[in-house]
Amino acid sequence: MAHFFEGESHTFSEYLLVPGYSSHENVPQGVSLKTPLVKFRRGEHSALTMNIPLTSAVMQAVSGPRLAIALAQEGGISFIYQSQAPEQEAKMVREVKSYKAGFVVSDSTLTPSMTLADVLELRNRTGHSTMPVTEDGSAHGLFCGIVTSRDYRVSRDDPSKRVCEFMTPAQQCITAQEGTTLKAANDIIWDHKLNQLPIVDGEGRLVSLVFRKDYDSHKSLPNELLDEHKSYIVGAGINTRDYAERVPLLVEAGADVLCIDSSEGFSEWEKLTLDWIREHYGNTVKVGAGNIVDAEGFRYLAEAGADFVKVGIGGGSICITREQKGIGRGQASALIDVCRARDEYFEEAGVYVPVCSDGGIVYDYHMTLALAMGADFLMLGRYFARFDESPTRRLNVNGSYVKEYWGEGSARARNWARYDLGGDKRLSFVEGVDSYVPYAGPLKENVEGSLTKVRSTMCNCGALDLCELREKAKITLVSATSLVEGGAHDVILKESDSSTNFRS
Ligand code: XMP
Repeated sequence: MAHFFEGESHTFSEYLLVPGYSSHENVPQGVSLKTPLVKFRRGEHSALTMNIPLTSAVMQAVSGPRLAIALAQEGGISFIYQSQAPEQEAKMVREVKSYKAGFVVSDSTLTPSMTLADVLELRNRTGHSTMPVTEDGSAHGLFCGIVTSRDYRVSRDDPSKRVCEFMTPAQQCITAQEGTTLKAANDIIWDHKLNQLPIVDGEGRLVSLVFRKDYDSHKSLPNELLDEHKSYIVGAGINTRDYAERVPLLVEAGADVLCIDSSEGFSEWEKLTLDWIREHYGNTVKVGAGNIVDAEGFRYLAEAGADFVKVGIGGGSICITREQKGIGRGQASALIDVCRARDEYFEEAGVYVPVCSDGGIVYDYHMTLALAMGADFLMLGRYFARFDESPTRRLNVNGSYVKEYWGEGSARARNWARYDLGGDKRLSFVEGVDSYVPYAGPLKENVEGSLTKVRSTMCNCGALDLCELREKAKITLVSATSLVEGGAHDVILKESDSSTNFRS
């Protein structure tokens, strides 16, 4: 007889938090969102802690180096996607680890023979109005000049005009040599009234750029997540197929934590991967595993040695696994079950294995609910895909700006290793879609906005940190009718009022 889970399979929107008593000390400024990333023994601390409970999904459309840096600056961690060649993934990790705050490696570089039309297209796509020009168009090519919006007039100039005709050539640019400190670079910027300063090496190759506007923003990064060498913390995805080749490259590149990226992780493949890592690196390499959706799956991965366990099958915005295969579980029910198992395991074994809730966050309040239900941290794809820093194109579709966002199980990503059950190196059928998400601007201001709400709700629950939230939260299921009551209802909304769209 099949096993039937008690109750229904619920998701976040079916729950609400009932406020608890809050004292005068419960103010958002006093709330800590610190959370453990990897397992620890009773009485000890996690070797890796995040300052905010957010990680970005192991996805091509989400976690590239630029987003990883922006998220680490806010106190969270990205997992660079593994659906690419191991060398390429390691290169991205290295890019994050070698990033020096304030020194920006160009992600929109021109060649002298490109045209004004190319400049405008690139500006539209990336949102950058300052673009360096190098001989071969690469971020570290021979520096030829710089283009800013002051160098052309769209209404007057011919779109076929060549970049070399209107750029400020290298000979007229003030540059600084590689090795210049951030303070010295900023002094040059101020002394010469510049907006940006290209940094070049001894052979005249572009290394990075320092922007005047970044200097001020850099002073306001109280949560940034740095290692002991003052490099940003970054994670990297791995799979259960090529770990013997991929893991050494990622470790050498400096990845701080790994995560097995699999659509269904209650499998011997995951144990074999964890065994291999323990055999070759002991406990020095931290690695999370998943995804699972029940207590049995959690216990299997915890006992197999996972440093954290990731929950979620089919709840992601671009996922169609449930429709295609009929497997999965409502994200809230899965999370509640797994967090209970984590606490029981801690009681029995004295080892706390953090739980990550992966996918399905639509509203900011879903973040608070997931944390109240027991998640130590969250993984989000769609949420981060909307920001400037995600690696995908920004497009104008029907008059609105959107960013591209596609699933790892889509035909576009071709991430066979995430879905593979037998090693035939192809996606037998798709489990994800290719889509657009509304463009939302810079990561920093969005994350700050979301977490302000999380902190505020925590205060309503009388909680000043995430442990307290879990202990004190009172959670209730809501009926379909009370869901209607929760939104604006029985009023005629003014067209100009956009405040009813709280999706983040
Ligand atoms: P959100 O809702 O944040 O979800 O966009 C991101 C998570 O979805 C998972 N993922 C997929 N699941 N087919 C799936 O069934 C896919 O193509 C796919 N791509 C990503 C993944 O766990 C991610 O973190």
